[in-house]
Amino acid sequence: MVHGDRLLNAHAASEERTAARDVVADADAPIIRVRGLVNRFGRQLVHDGLDLDVRRGEILGVVGGSGSGKSVLMRTLLGLLTPSAGAIDILGADARSPDPSVRRHIRRNIGVLFQDGALFSSLTVGENVQVPLKEYYPELPDSLRYELALLKVKLAGLPADALDKLPAQLSGGMRKRAALARALALDPPLLFLDEPTAGLDPISAAAFDQLLHTLRAALGLTVFLITHDLDTLYAICDRVAVLADRKIVAVAPLSELEKLDHPWVQDYFNGPRGRAARAART
Ligand SMILES: Nc1ncnc2c1ncn2[C@@H]1O[C@H](COP(=O)(O)OP(=O)(O)OP(=O)(O)O)[C@@H](O)[C@H]1O
Ligand SMILES: [Mg+2]
Repeated sequence: MVHGDRLLNAHAASEERTAARDVVADADAPIIRVRGLVNRFGRQLVHDGLDLDVRRGEILGVVGGSGSGKSVLMRTLLGLLTPSAGAIDILGADARSPDPSVRRHIRRNIGVLFQDGALFSSLTVGENVQVPLKEYYPELPDSLRYELALLKVKLAGLPADALDKLPAQLSGGMRKRAALARALALDPPLLFLDEPTAGLDPISAAAFDQLLHTLRAALGLTVFLITHDLDTLYAICDRVAVLADRKIVAVAPLSELEKLDHPWVQDYFNGPRGRAARAART
């Protein structure tokens, strides 16, 4: 196992020495920096001059009404959508660069859990986790790849026997963990999660939050976490960004956000559910 990790790391080190130079150069620089982002679909303007900084090592919660553009923001940061305007710096590289080596550097260093889970339904959990390993390390022997997948599955809090199951044979909560295992396959420093606890019962959701919190501490991850779950925000987010009026209207720790004089923020944090979530933490 350790051997497998070393092999991976050795490959990764040489590949990234060049690309990641900028990343380590300035540890205080934000890991994601967005300026003046504009996204439109036909006549619909989704983002209009959006700015955002994500700090290294933080769990940043991203909230906003349904349809406010959270998933579109995430897809833009991942380079899956081309914005109409704006600058995006991510992991020390320009996310809008057409240079394939830059795009590969970004993709290689990001783990993603999409809103709809998106595991390959015809592949077992273990095979799903091996997909990114195969893409980036095709020369790794099968046995090592299998061992690495097992490690990630355990890291995501699943029993070893989940490895050989198909997604349809797992509960919703286990599928989320399997998707997390795949997102962690390449040891990414940066993790994007879109509504990871949606559809889970409160106990499974709290367990998933705790898992994220532990992984962040153990692996030093930075986490961009889109969520509607107020309990998640209170339990694990260092700061929360509010997407409203086509912009990030505020980024702050919750204790400060609650005081913000913005109608959506007031409704959300000081409505009955917000008060209940806060009361549960104190
Ligand atoms: N590929 C697309 N083509 C056209 N319109 C799109 C596309 N993707 C998103 N939209 C529109 O952009 C807006 C923002 O969508 P987005 O999925 O980002 O919302 P969201 O904040 O993630 O909402 P939710 O909380 O419901 O997931 C919506 O009006 C949506 O219909
Ligand atoms: Mg969404």
